[in-house]
Amino acid sequence: MKNEYLFELKDFHVWVGEKEILKGLNLRIKQGSVHVIFGPNGSGKTTLLNAVMGFSGYRVTGQILFHGKDITRLPVNERARLGIGISFQRPPAIHGVKLRHLIATSAKTNGRLLDEYARKLNLVDFLERDVNVGFSGGEIKRAELLQLLLQDPDLIFLDEPESGVDLENIALIGEYTNHLLGKKLRPQEDKTMKELRREVSKSGLLITHTGHILNYVNADVGHILMGGRIACEANPQEMLNTLQECGFQECYRCFRKEEDHVKR
Ligand SMILES: Nc1ncnc2c1ncn2[C@@H]1O[C@H](COP(=O)(O)OP(=O)(O)O)[C@@H](O)[C@H]1O
Ligand SMILES: [Mg+2]
Repeated sequence: MKNEYLFELKDFHVWVGEKEILKGLNLRIKQGSVHVIFGPNGSGKTTLLNAVMGFSGYRVTGQILFHGKDITRLPVNERARLGIGISFQRPPAIHGVKLRHLIATSAKTNGRLLDEYARKLNLVDFLERDVNVGFSGGEIKRAELLQLLLQDPDLIFLDEPESGVDLENIALIGEYTNHLLGKKLRPQEDKTMKELRREVSKSGLLITHTGHILNYVNADVGHILMGGRIACEANPQEMLNTLQECGFQECYRCFRKEEDHVKR
């Protein structure tokens, strides 16, 4: 039988140096499903995405499965080649490499589409500039999104795509993130995007601190990451409403209950 999950984490632990940041996560993402992870600052959200992507500096145990295949020990470029993409919370500036050339190294599609998306994201002039050098917070996030649109991965990790972005640009980033994920058009979306629409719904893991992006992205499942563990599985929008009302305080109670349950 074909594996219904595109991506699975099994008892996934991550250490940075001596410190254990993630303490046994289990997560399953179906084909075409977008999961959201909420969590307080420093709870390990960025560590999770970076470790799953295979970046150095993390010691991991447990298993990462993609299309049912164990990728836990594969190098980062192999994971990208298999169809996993990431937009960073704080991507580095790369002196001497033009954005157009960086995109060309991973793009699946032709130059026309690059110019089209660059125009839609107001990044035409930026294609000839060194990657992220002197870019504003919002320009960096739009450049990350442009790279993913051209790379067109099957599984997409998004680390706070709206952080540092002003309200006007959040709409643009949100709409194109929804488009990247192949989700249905939302009423406020730019109708000219229909011509660029993808056939396939992508899978994603979206990290958001503020939750603003959920006004634009049709996400399917929400989780909370706290104390190195994932708990909760609920509608992301309802979860966000509760968090806005009660903060993460309420989550501590559930986490304590879960921990007691595990100990017993
Ligand atoms: N390279 C590192 N060296 C030391 N500590 C780190 C490193 N990366 C992350 N951490 C620590 O791991 C914890 C989780 O960080 P992070 O994953 O960035 O959290 P979040 O993205 O949820 O805000 C924090 O306490 C952070 O200081
Ligand atoms: Mg982070």
